Amino acid sequence: MDHFLYRDGRLMAEDVAISEIVAEVGTPVYVYSSATLLRHLQLFEEALDGLPHLVCFAVKSLGNVAVLKLLGEAGAGMDIVSGGEYARARAAGVPGERIVFSGVGKTREEMRMALEGGIRQFNVESEPELQALSEVASSLGKTAPITIRVNPDVDAKTHAKIATGKSENKFGIPIARAREVYAMAARLPGIEVIGIDVHIGSQLTELAPFEAAFTKVAELTEMLRADGHDIRRLDLGGGLGIPYERINEAPPLPFDYGALIRRTVGHLGCEIEIEPGRLVAGNAGLLISRVIYAKSGEGRDFLILDAAMNDLVRPSMYDAHHDIVPVIEPEAGAETRPWDVVGPVCETGDTFARGRELPPVGEGDLVAFRSAGAYGAAMASEYNARPLVPEVLVRDDQFAVIRRRPSYEEMIARDSIPEWL
Ligand code: LLP
Repeated sequence: MDHFLYRDGRLMAEDVAISEIVAEVGTPVYVYSSATLLRHLQLFEEALDGLPHLVCFAVKSLGNVAVLKLLGEAGAGMDIVSGGEYARARAAGVPGERIVFSGVGKTREEMRMALEGGIRQFNVESEPELQALSEVASSLGKTAPITIRVNPDVDAKTHAKIATGKSENKFGIPIARAREVYAMAARLPGIEVIGIDVHIGSQLTELAPFEAAFTKVAELTEMLRADGHDIRRLDLGGGLGIPYERINEAPPLPFDYGALIRRTVGHLGCEIEIEPGRLVAGNAGLLISRVIYAKSGEGRDFLILDAAMNDLVRPSMYDAHHDIVPVIEPEAGAETRPWDVVGPVCETGDTFARGRELPPVGEGDLVAFRSAGAYGAAMASEYNARPLVPEVLVRDDQFAVIRRRPSYEEMIARDSIPEWL
C-alpha cells in the first residue's frame, strides 16, 4: 500500500500534487511519502507485536537524515554498515543503543567511532574482525556487545547480486563453524557475546528460505546455550521483497513473516531484531522525471528522459523492473504503445525499460518511476557530471526539500587543482 494516487487526474503524493513539487524543485527528483514510510514500519511492529523486538531500518536503502529522523522518532532502530551511516543515524537523533553495526569490512576507525559514540551491537562477520574489535574495545577500556553473523547456506532464490546466504557468498561465518568461533569470541577481552545474526539476501519473494535459515538459527541457539553462551538476542536481517510489478507480483506480507518468526524462534525467549530496508522505503518513494525527447528509431521508439542510470541504477545493475506511470492520469481505456525508456547518459546500459507499454506520453510530459524509494537516491551518483538528484519529503499537504540539487559550481567546488598545475 502507498500514498501515491491519482486525484482529479493528477498524481498525488499524499495531499500534494507531484506537479506542484516539480514546479518548485524541477526534475529529476525523488519524492517520499511520510505516511507510507510510517505505515510500512508499523506493519513490522504489528507483525512482531508481543515479542520483545526492535525494527532496525536498513539505512543503506534510504539514508536521508530527514527520513531517518521520521522513522527514528516513530521508534525504529537503525541497521548501519559504515561510519558514514553511523554519522547519519546519529545526526537524525537516533541513540546509539538503537543502532546495530553490520557489514563485512568494518575498519578499526569505524569500530572506534561506534564504541565511543554508543552502539547496540556489532554483527561480526569473521575471525579477523572479531580480533580487531577485541583490540579496539580493549584499548578504549570498553566492552563490545556482539552477535556473529552466520551463513546458513540457504538459497534465497533472488538476484545473484543480492543473495548473501549461500556458502559461496562473502558474508558471515559458515554455520558449521559457528561453535568454534563463538568459543573464540568468549575468550577474547573486550567482547561480550549476546546473540546470533543472519541475513540471507534481499528482495526475497518467498518465505521458505527465511524458514530454512531461522530454523537453523534456532538449532544453533540451543547448541550455543548448551556450550554456555548467553544467547539473548537474534538479529534476523532484512530481505522481505516488495511487488515491483503491481499486476503480477504478490510477495509475502510482513504479517506472515512475523508469524514465521514466532513459529521458528519465538519459543527461545530471545529479543528479536529485524533489518528491513526495501519493504519500508521501496514503495514509499517515486522518482519523477521529464521526457526530453520522443525519438523514433528503427523498429523501436525511444523515450529519452532527464533521469538516468546515475539517478536510479537498479534497472541497469539488476535488470530491475520499475513501473512507470504518467503524472497526468491517462484517460480510461487509453491506447498504449511500446517504448524503450532511456536516460541521457552515454552508454547503452542507461536503459530503464525495453518495449514498455505506456499510455500516450510525449515531449515535456512528466513520468513517475514507482517503487523507487529504496536503493534509488541511496545509490545515485554524479556520473556524466549530472548533479546529485534531490529528494523531497511529503507529509499530508506539506512538502520539504530534504536534499537540494547542487549547483554546477557546488559540484565542481569539491575538486581542487594542485598549485603545481
Ligand atoms: N541487513 C543487511 C545485513 C543487509 O545487507 C541488507 C541489504 C539489509 C539488511 C536490508 O535488506 P532489504 O530489507 O532492503 O532487502 N541494492 C540492491 C539491494 C542490496 C541489499 C543489500 N543488503 C537493490 O537495489 O536491489
